[in-house]
Amino acid sequence: MKWRSISVEVLTSAQAAEELKALASEIAGHDVAYYQNDDPNISDANYDALRLRNQAIEERFPDLKRADSPSDKVGVTPESGFGKIQHAVPMLSLGNAFNVQDLEDFDTRIRRFLSLDEAETISYTSEPKIDGLSASLRYEKGIFVKGATRGDGQVGEDITENLKTLKDVPLTLPAGVPDIVEIRGEVYMAHEDFEILNRQQTEKGRKPFANPRNAAAGSLRQLDARITADRPLKFFAYTWGEMSDMPSDTQSGMITCFDKWGFTVNQDFKVLKDVAALNDHWRDIEERRSLLGYDIDGMVYKIDRLDWQSRLGFVSRAPRWAIAHKFPAEKAITKLLDIDIQVGRTGALTPVAKLKKVTVGGVEVSNATLHNAHEIKRLDVRLNDFVVVQRAGDVIPQIVEVLIEKREGEPQEYQFPDNCPACGAQAFHEIRADGEQDAVKRCSGGLSCPAQAKERLKHFVSRSALDIDGLGDKQIDEFWAYDLLRTPVDIFNLHQKADEAPEIWLYTSGKNKGQLKDSLTKLFLAIEKAKKPDLDRFLFALGIRQVGETTARLLARRYKTLEGFRDAVLSMCEGHEASKEELASIDGVGNTMVESLLTFFAEPHNLDIINGLINVGVAPVSLPEAENNTPISGKIVVFTGTLARMTRAEAKARAEKMGAKVSGSVSEKTDILVAGESAGSKLKKAEELGIETLTEDEWLEIAAST
Ligand code: IVH
Repeated sequence: MKWRSISVEVLTSAQAAEELKALASEIAGHDVAYYQNDDPNISDANYDALRLRNQAIEERFPDLKRADSPSDKVGVTPESGFGKIQHAVPMLSLGNAFNVQDLEDFDTRIRRFLSLDEAETISYTSEPKIDGLSASLRYEKGIFVKGATRGDGQVGEDITENLKTLKDVPLTLPAGVPDIVEIRGEVYMAHEDFEILNRQQTEKGRKPFANPRNAAAGSLRQLDARITADRPLKFFAYTWGEMSDMPSDTQSGMITCFDKWGFTVNQDFKVLKDVAALNDHWRDIEERRSLLGYDIDGMVYKIDRLDWQSRLGFVSRAPRWAIAHKFPAEKAITKLLDIDIQVGRTGALTPVAKLKKVTVGGVEVSNATLHNAHEIKRLDVRLNDFVVVQRAGDVIPQIVEVLIEKREGEPQEYQFPDNCPACGAQAFHEIRADGEQDAVKRCSGGLSCPAQAKERLKHFVSRSALDIDGLGDKQIDEFWAYDLLRTPVDIFNLHQKADEAPEIWLYTSGKNKGQLKDSLTKLFLAIEKAKKPDLDRFLFALGIRQVGETTARLLARRYKTLEGFRDAVLSMCEGHEASKEELASIDGVGNTMVESLLTFFAEPHNLDIINGLINVGVAPVSLPEAENNTPISGKIVVFTGTLARMTRAEAKARAEKMGAKVSGSVSEKTDILVAGESAGSKLKKAEELGIETLTEDEWLEIAAST
């Protein structure tokens, strides 16, 4: 580049413009090599020099800064969360159809609306509904300038940098495309890549993702785009937002253009002439669903003619001209090889079915939950039985049916153990407050049971608790085996043990000295960071029975500090009625909870742990005061159904911060019900009771407004 030797101070404006253009394309090329191909073709120092020069020129000629300026991109990590992007055209959701009747109703509504008679053919497009996250890509003059999540449909998050790292997201479009092009589609993770990523997560001491969709979401919404770059995300283009010119007058024509412009479009896209053909396509894809290599949860049908689409328009947030035809949960048949009994942190014995490996909808499954002893009885499942396993959306695979007719011989009924498999202590069903026997059988060994103690440690460091990166299930098992860890306090003394007995670490890690040093440095940093958890997370981390995330938050709000909470419970243990009443008076805290706290604190070991943690410098942080002037302050809010754009925990935390009380069930007292996708009985009940209900989008609007 001939100008580069010229000092920035003496560049003419024409030279500057030309060089900025060259630099933008050169840096973009290096970015593709680095982020997309994992194959950088320039040293870091030279790359930095290019960016610095670009920046220096821009500083001298601010008016010449380009729309695709490298200084706005790559590696920029916003300090707090992502920026917001207002969608030029809202991003909508779809109505659902579950059977042929629903499809016929859809077709009839359209005919009525457009005044078309039976004889008129309507062409529909038909394509898989990808189970991922939608994203919008904005191109100006052929250059990718902004990428956003769907957010609430009106305003999304700026994930431009993250999207740039996807191979399916072209950074430039061919000549001749309209000036403004917004491509919309789905970011997802293929089954194969999901399995690899989860293996890596486990190795690194991180929790594996529950399913490919969660993995895609977790990977895309990373503040550091370099992490996204390492994750194998893909993108299918299926619709558009703002377009300065329409290159076609049909849906199918648009998809053909997207394909030509370098986007990946779905191979199973078809144009079909009637409901029967749509249903045939649906059946065909359903049969091939597990072979596609990625999760889909139905088919999407759209009217092909765009003039008809515009005439039909929208009802609430979904187009009248499109519909999602859902698939049922995925199932497979396999053999039950064994039943493992896992001991949880509260001693609950959970039977886990060990299955002959089977792919359920493309994802390998070798374990499924059997819930508890009663469930085994109900299913009457016996060793070596053939069983039906189901995997649906976010849930853990389950056994839904035993194929009795395939049973060989007369296998014995399964005998649920009477003793804990880990420590041998007696296991029994507790009697619940209502006098009924609890379905769960529990080990009575308490902390002398190594399985319970280990599970408590795993819970303590888990994502919703102290969230210590680098200390996952695998590491806890290893550190336990080498006597390095027994209680949560030991976690904060690990660095001393590393100095005292470095050889142990080499045995446990299987790494060489250099790698070990790196990962230990990271681990100790993460542990140091965990010394200042939010008080609610800390209380949840303690693993007190009945104290889930919600109760922990209530307690944290009421008692403000760890010492305040500890002293109140101790005073209650000493028999001070006033303290007991104070605790029981917190909305959402019942007698069972009070009992549970008493039991926890009556165990000296538990108090030792709390004091020990305070002594090693763990100082939980008080929660911010709830806001009292929001549209939902003082109201009782219930969340139900699947929220697509916020986890349940996030939604609860947000609502509580805004001064609402979040409850798990609908009653006359409920003020607002937020209904996500596939909301069921709670939504029905709320409607019967005349309770105000909000869609997820409406909730997000409120949440974003304060
Ligand atoms: S079209 C106005 N096509 O499903 C219509 N959506 O439930 C916009 N989705 O938010 C959507 N695959 O995230 C369309 N082939 C497909 C899709 C698809 C997945 C998602 C999308 C949308 C959601 C609605």
